[in-house]
Amino acid sequence: MAQQQVFDSNCMTLTRFVLAEQKKVPTATGDLSQLLTSIQTAVKAVSSAVRRAGLAHLYGMAGSTNVQGEDVKKLDVLSNELFVNMLASSYTVNMLVSEENETVIEIETEKRGKYIVCFDPLDGSSNIDCLVSIGSIFGIFKKTNESNDIDIKNALQPGRTMVAAGYALYGSATMMVLSLGKGSGVNGFMLDPALGEFLLTERDIKIPRKGNIYSINEGYTHQWDDIITKYIIQKKDPKYGKPYGARYIGSMVADVHRTLKYGGIFMYPASKQSPNGKLRLLYEGNPMAFIVEEAGGVATNGKIPILDIQPTALHQRCPIFLGSKDDVNELLEMYNV
Ligand code: AHG
Ligand code: MN
Ligand code: MN
Repeated sequence: MAQQQVFDSNCMTLTRFVLAEQKKVPTATGDLSQLLTSIQTAVKAVSSAVRRAGLAHLYGMAGSTNVQGEDVKKLDVLSNELFVNMLASSYTVNMLVSEENETVIEIETEKRGKYIVCFDPLDGSSNIDCLVSIGSIFGIFKKTNESNDIDIKNALQPGRTMVAAGYALYGSATMMVLSLGKGSGVNGFMLDPALGEFLLTERDIKIPRKGNIYSINEGYTHQWDDIITKYIIQKKDPKYGKPYGARYIGSMVADVHRTLKYGGIFMYPASKQSPNGKLRLLYEGNPMAFIVEEAGGVATNGKIPILDIQPTALHQRCPIFLGSKDDVNELLEMYNV
């Protein structure tokens, strides 16, 4: 029997992976690698806080509401501080957009770089206190002008122009999923807690062409439009083929990660109450759409690709349908798109 390799002395860490990718671009300055290192540090710290939350008295409310009027948990606040502090001191960013901050976060002039990061420091807050998976999401843009001044236009670029995007999932293990765009694919890195390093464990993730899972908050059935209602009925009716399974965690990162791995469709549609849905374009829709498209899937608002939406406000929302090509296209056909 072949001897089991217990320790990989040549393991591909996330840092090593990013450096190798950077070397493929002769003009690269190394700034993006530096930026991603600061995100790795924030994610490791959030992961550690998530794992120790009960012991460290991090469960529960912070006692405030955020810009969307939502209750903020202590872990939301801590995660936001970690992302802001690590990124602001990386000498690579010009400004930041966070779910938790009403306006853009301007970096001190002498520390400014050429990137803009839009992030949701902790996604799935409602799942914190019951130990269900949560995550962090980020999308990285480059300034479109030479000036170092803060210009909100740089934060309002369509997702298509992103240079990189990713998410961290604090699930049964912590994993970071990253795409550096332009056909470079999507790769998954598992956090080895002993090493404190992310190691490449899921190379070139491709979303199955078709799945057998639908993921939507069915409690809002009576708020949906007729097409969504019909689509979901069909997914459950044996007349239309083998019925799909239903899975809905309520943490976008976890629901999207499952969709990426197993295929199917994740939906957060518009409703009568929220005509633009709930999820935010800049730091939820865009980064996830970037990853899903890079993995061979489709991400749309029901009319156009999420990545082609021209943002007009930092915290704008948009309906989201993403996942396996065949599953999302089936819905789009019903919408006559
Ligand atoms: P956040 O915790 O960052 O505010 O995001 C929560 C989001 C998202 O993770 C999830 O997909 C969605 O809220 C669930 O909303 P419902 O409870 O309305 O289904
Ligand atoms: Mn979120
Ligand atoms: Mn959040």
